[in-house]
Amino acid sequence: MVKKATALANANIALVKYWGKRNEELILPYNSSISMTCDGLFTTTTVEFSEKYKEDIIIINDEELKKDEKNILSHLEKIRKMAGIKERVKVVSESNFPVAAGLASSASGLAALTLAATKAAGLDLNQRELSILARQGSGSACRSIYGGFVEWLKGEKEDGSNSYANQIVDKNYWPEFRIIVTILTEAKKKISSRAGMVQTVKTCPFYQGWLKTVEEDLKIVKEAILQKDFPKLGAQAEYNCLKMHALMMTTKPSIIYWRPATMEVIQNVLAWREEGLQCYFTIDAGPNIKVLCLKKDKKEINKRLLRLEGVIKTIIAKPGDDAKIIDKYLF
Ligand code: PMV
Repeated sequence: MVKKATALANANIALVKYWGKRNEELILPYNSSISMTCDGLFTTTTVEFSEKYKEDIIIINDEELKKDEKNILSHLEKIRKMAGIKERVKVVSESNFPVAAGLASSASGLAALTLAATKAAGLDLNQRELSILARQGSGSACRSIYGGFVEWLKGEKEDGSNSYANQIVDKNYWPEFRIIVTILTEAKKKISSRAGMVQTVKTCPFYQGWLKTVEEDLKIVKEAILQKDFPKLGAQAEYNCLKMHALMMTTKPSIIYWRPATMEVIQNVLAWREEGLQCYFTIDAGPNIKVLCLKKDKKEINKRLLRLEGVIKTIIAKPGDDAKIIDKYLF
């Protein structure tokens, strides 16, 4: 039997951020989070287990895996153990957007890897099981198993069995919603979100304040999604993002992901909003910025973004699909 499969998973962008782990090993968060799965920002991954491979080969965007990405190897080892197989593996993975620049590439990457590898290994997991497993590769990956708007429940159990994602609504519920991913640099960030979180939990004096107030953010953003209330969602998501960056800036040593171009976009989004154009921003662990808007305003906002100095390009995403197995091999 051929132990080979390909999966496609979309990236997701958090509207209420996950920041800080209560368990590093199992990747259990201190807080729940909410995201939109993005159509058009995806990773495709083919996995094959076979005796013909003498060692594990992992190729991501045409580059062989470096040692600092060994979490991918341990993730594959976990899947081999679950399936009771011993063969070495070959993985080829491609994303259609810059990796490690705060564009949630780890989310689509680990979600696609988890789905392709479990399928290739002969395991037939349901979405909840996939979400739990993907979470252990990269936290935000558990949300990319589902399409539409998604909530990752933090869970309380020590073993992580109730820390998984759930779909709030599918991609057809609010099809007018758009996120304009605004790329300011394609350089890899210097501090990974993993390291940034550890440092924040350890040294930020405001972390407890984050945990206290994030519950309110979750409640409001979830309500806003269900009510399709764009200003309510945008305002709360923007506020939540600024709180997360305030944590990062006040850890020791401080982490500042923003570049001058990030601030340029922030100031302009605020000014356009003053003018009556409906737009809000969110930023992850990197300098790039995402502008939230509705379909009716996307052309105008996109045009204005592309005119700003420092903006290299934009990608407009609408709510996307669940991660899925596809009928195509990358090798
Ligand atoms: O799952 P990670 O390690 O890629 O961390 C994601 C962290 C943020 O993107 C900043 C927030 C989030 O919820 O996606």
